[in-house]
This record gives sequence, structure tokens and C-alpha cells, in this order.
Amino acid sequence: MTHHITLRRPDDWHLHLRDGAMLQGVLPESARHFARAIIMPNLVPPVVTGAQAAAYRDRILAALPAGSDFQPLMTLYLTESTDPADVAAAAASGLVKAVKLYPAGATTNSHGGVRNFDKVMPVLEKMAEIGLPLCTHGEVTTPEVDIFDREAVFIDTVLDPLRRRIPELRVVMEHITTSQGAAYAAEGGDRLAATITTHHLIINRNHILVGGIKPHYYCLPVAKREEHRLALRKAATSGKGCYFLGTDSAPHVDALKEHACGCAGCFTATNTMPLLAHVFEEDGALDKLEAFTSLNGPAFYRLPVNEGRMTLVKHEAATRFPDKIMTEAGPVTVFDPGYPVHWAVEG
Ligand code: NCD
Ligand code: ZN
Repeated sequence: MTHHITLRRPDDWHLHLRDGAMLQGVLPESARHFARAIIMPNLVPPVVTGAQAAAYRDRILAALPAGSDFQPLMTLYLTESTDPADVAAAAASGLVKAVKLYPAGATTNSHGGVRNFDKVMPVLEKMAEIGLPLCTHGEVTTPEVDIFDREAVFIDTVLDPLRRRIPELRVVMEHITTSQGAAYAAEGGDRLAATITTHHLIINRNHILVGGIKPHYYCLPVAKREEHRLALRKAATSGKGCYFLGTDSAPHVDALKEHACGCAGCFTATNTMPLLAHVFEEDGALDKLEAFTSLNGPAFYRLPVNEGRMTLVKHEAATRFPDKIMTEAGPVTVFDPGYPVHWAVEG
């Protein structure tokens, strides 16, 4: 039995850090384990311009614990009035590593997102020319489409036509939750990849709804049927270069999660690496964990892999994670896998 595993230090290719007191509270949880993270731009107001991304990056760096070398990789929030020249300049300076597409209304703070794709064509064409990836929140928002079908319909009616229209565009399908998403990513060649979250490898929709509603398991895209969770497990543990970790750790204070209209998001920054070791071990794929957390992402983003190493150790006793992180904004519940985990990060 394997009792420890050493990996290149991991990165998180999809992370919500928020701002202000929440940023201050949650940033150490990611900076402790991850070398870099792609930082989502869905603040209020969103991070739309290069200047806003530079200012947000400075706020993140100022909030880092002393001695941390964590690097935020910034993204811009795509709107119908985004300026292609501003995007190109922000990418050329090295500040911005991707642009995020939120279909308007798809998720938290997405009302400024895209309604009419014709209006963003000049930006997408510029991105294709310079090789800057588009990170997609892959759900349609049409009220007639059932929430559990929104990802599959997005692939067929939005993503695939868009990729045919601009074949050179490099795309990351963010937080895939379906077998259709996993299959589409695998067929897309080297201009297409998909991130997978920790929680979607662990929960299916029953976890949210059976035996009482569990708001801390509610996120978007919402967890699907068990067969989809199993497809995601197979994808993540395959070692294939098109799949890599994006935790989508998305903190909301408990008062807004445990609410009549609760916010979407699971907070996994604290315990992601031990949970992933558990999942990969369970599937007999510990040897593929490093590809998922530390190699495939940098390869797609054309960045060097991290030089540092992380060791995970398996103990007899279950690892104790905090139930909540206390922030000045309020308590944030840490994702609970619902079973004991024996892995811990040790150096
Ligand atoms: C994210 C958030 O809270 O910002 N929520 C979530 O459920 N994942 C937004 C997102 O990534 O969809
Ligand atoms: Zn997200």
C-alpha cells in the first residue's frame, strides 16, 4: 500500500478569491498548497479591463501571507464592449492569462456577461491570433432548458458552433460536470481542454437533495447524475493532457449559503489535495495525480511546470480539516466529502 506520494507543486486553474475581507480570509487556504491559480474575474463590479486586472492582482499580492510566493494568474471578464486592443496589451504584458466567458445570467455575478456572440467576435478573433485561451462557463441560460441539461446543450448550440467559427481559438471548458463534456474535451485536439473540480469528483445530485437540502453542496454547474460523476472520475484519473484541476473553490459566507435563495459555490481550497489523493487512490490512479494537478495545466497554458514539490502522506487516523474558515466577512464552510480522508499534505 502506498503511504506517501511526492508531486510537483500543484496549480489551481479555476479559483474564486473575491475581494476585501473575504480575499484576506480565503487566500491563505489556496496559497498554502498551490503555486499558482487562474483567478476568476466575477467580482462586483467585474474585472473587465487590463487596468482593473492589474489593480486586482495588486490587492491579491498585498493580501498574501508573509513569505508566500503564490502567483495569481489574472483573467478578464468578457463583455460585449470589451476592447480587443486592451485584451491584447494585457496579454502581451504577461498580466492576463485568459479571458472568461460567462453567458449572461449563468452564475454568480454574470449579468454583465455575453448575450450576443456577434458582438464579441473581434475580441475572440484577436485572442485566436495571439493564442490567449478563452475559459468558458459552459451552460446555456435559456429558461426552457432544464438546469441539468444546460451543459450538454451549451456544447451543442454554443461551444461547438463557436469553435467551428474560430477554429484557432484556444478554449478551456471550465468545471465540466457531464460525460458529454468529458467526451467533447477529449475529441477537441490540442486547442481544447477542460478543468474538473474536486467536488464534482465526489458528489452527485443526490448529495444535494436526498435526506434534506444541503446548501453547501450546491454549486454551478450543479452536480449531475452518478453516471456523470463516474465519467468525470475516469477523465481526471486518465492522465490525459486535456483534463486538469480547476477547483472552482467559490467561497460564500454561511449566511448566504444557508438562505432561502442560497448562493452557488463549494469551498474546497482548504482540503482539495488530500481529497484528490483519496479519489485517485480509490481509482488505483495515484500515479496520474501529478498529471492532473501539476503537469497538464501548465502544458495547456504554455507555462513552465513548478519546480517545488509537495508530499502527501496517508495516516491511520483520519485527517482533521476545519469545518469552517473564519473570515472578517463571516464564516465559510469547508467542503465535506462525507467520508473520512486519511491523506494530509506534509511539506
Ligand atoms: C461561482 C461563484 O460563486 O463565483 N459559483 C459556483 O457555483 N461555481 C461561479 C461559477 O464559477 O460558476
Ligand atoms: Zn467558478
